[in-house]
Amino acid sequence: MAASRVHTRCLCCLQKLFPKPKLNPKLILNNFSSNFNLVKSRAVSSVLSKDGWGKGAKFEPFQVMVERRRSEASRSILFFLSERSCLENLIEYCNSHGKVQNCFEFYQNAYFAVVEFKKKESVKLIQERVYSSRGIGRFNDELIQNRLLKYNIKSSQASTIRPKNIVNKDFPNSQLIKTVCHGDSVSNQIEMLATEQALTDEGIRMRFLVCTLIEDACRKMFPECEVLPFGSSVNNFGKRNCDVDMFIDPKIGHGMIPVAQSAKKFKVEYDQSSADNERIATQNTLRTLSKYLEKCVPHCTNVLKILHATCPLVKFKHQALGLSCDLTANNRGAIDSSEMLYIFSKLDKRVQPLVFLIRHWCRYHGLTNKNPGQWITNYPLTLLVVVFLQTRRVPILPKLVDLINADLSFDDIDYSFPDLKGFPHQADDTSLADLLHEFFVFCTKFDFGNQGLSVRHGSVFHNDSRFPLFIENPLVYHLNCCKNVTKALVTKLRSSAAEALWVMDQPGFLDSTPWGIGMLFLTPRKLEKIQKEQNVAAFGKRVGRVLGLFPN
Ligand code: GTP
Ligand code: MG
Repeated sequence: MAASRVHTRCLCCLQKLFPKPKLNPKLILNNFSSNFNLVKSRAVSSVLSKDGWGKGAKFEPFQVMVERRRSEASRSILFFLSERSCLENLIEYCNSHGKVQNCFEFYQNAYFAVVEFKKKESVKLIQERVYSSRGIGRFNDELIQNRLLKYNIKSSQASTIRPKNIVNKDFPNSQLIKTVCHGDSVSNQIEMLATEQALTDEGIRMRFLVCTLIEDACRKMFPECEVLPFGSSVNNFGKRNCDVDMFIDPKIGHGMIPVAQSAKKFKVEYDQSSADNERIATQNTLRTLSKYLEKCVPHCTNVLKILHATCPLVKFKHQALGLSCDLTANNRGAIDSSEMLYIFSKLDKRVQPLVFLIRHWCRYHGLTNKNPGQWITNYPLTLLVVVFLQTRRVPILPKLVDLINADLSFDDIDYSFPDLKGFPHQADDTSLADLLHEFFVFCTKFDFGNQGLSVRHGSVFHNDSRFPLFIENPLVYHLNCCKNVTKALVTKLRSSAAEALWVMDQPGFLDSTPWGIGMLFLTPRKLEKIQKEQNVAAFGKRVGRVLGLFPN
């Protein structure tokens, strides 16, 4: 097949297709701690033995999973499908260059397809044919061989109506409520909610793909660099529209930073201030990378640098994949915390659905928010659920210290995971519904003002700080990851939990419409109606008084 029929990205066409939106000055800070550099070595977690935590559950170790996904992504090409072309023809075309292993189509303002080849050579072959036919996309006089190509062969089937597979979109709350009403128990409803919300295989592939596309582009500057995803894209708690947190490890000498020579020319050079100060090196690196993404890397728009945050980052949107991305540097510790959450999510099958339900509940009730502010963010919220599961009468999760394969000195963690077998573990078959109820009791009764929570030790400690909520950063001794949370928010968490308990304890909880967890996500008006029907006056205050939250 003639290579010239597959076109390289043509800038003017793509700009029409994806006009660069104006920068949004309100784009958000990510306020996480930068003190991630205490981590030393890493090793792979191994599968659980029969007697181990998680009742014989086996799971793919985190690093193996990351490597597998990265390999898939690096053998994939992202195709823009023109109106007149179709997936079947594209697969035929691709198969003529090497075996296609996986393929899916998605819609993001236009039709796209991701094609994964069995071998990397097939990708190279297509790129070479395409790029030898055109002379555009030069970088410092070298061709950028991008893996985003346009497929434009006319097909007879393309004119028929094509389904629009939209991958990165959350379901609205109303639809979730309807869906979970088909569950056969409250626990089953909680599982259903997680299944509806969790990242799909396609969503995960797209997130790894964007990281390898950025990595390819950055390798023009740093030939050895790695761009790795972290956060909810990999920790098993990601929702369908979650952002892509990524981190670049430039793998270059100390003090070496990228600099812009002109609008489209970049080089790496030594800088004394960067050699003296790691934070300055990170800021300088990200400053140049933001220019590079904006000027040279296809489909990166809305580029915004936030260099004075605790953890400096560059935000951008990958237009073709429809993904919001946060690029950080010098942030390997965030990968360790992602691995930690991944392991917790795999140790017991109740953890992931419970976390999804609680995250959704908190979001619905205004306890979390994606904008920075007084809210508890998803990471510490997940830690709150973990510590609840560690500290209940029969622990469902082990202490972090029991997962770490080293003597633990307080400010220096050797964060490697041993063979996980042999933890003391009591059998426990509490249902998800009962765990949820217990979690709400925990939130209403826990003395947040005077006690802090430690995932590292799976315990509570005396909180003598001024923070109304203290959840220790598991990887950095005694650093609070909820510094931003106000007393008012903690009070709201407790009163919302009290309200949820009341709802769960109503006789109508199991047979009203909607029923079960659907009732936890009703509009205040609907809930009020039900309260009236249940003949409960001054409901919130009453429940609050019973639990001693409010004065009489
Ligand atoms: P989403 O809300 O779905 O994006 O969840 P997320 O887990 O990806 O959270 P976010 O994008 O805010 O942060 C990405 C990752 O950075 C987290 O998973 C953590 O590994 C790390 N992180 C976030 N907040 C903190 C924090 O306050 N302290 C520390 N130490 N790490 C954090
Ligand atoms: Mg995230």
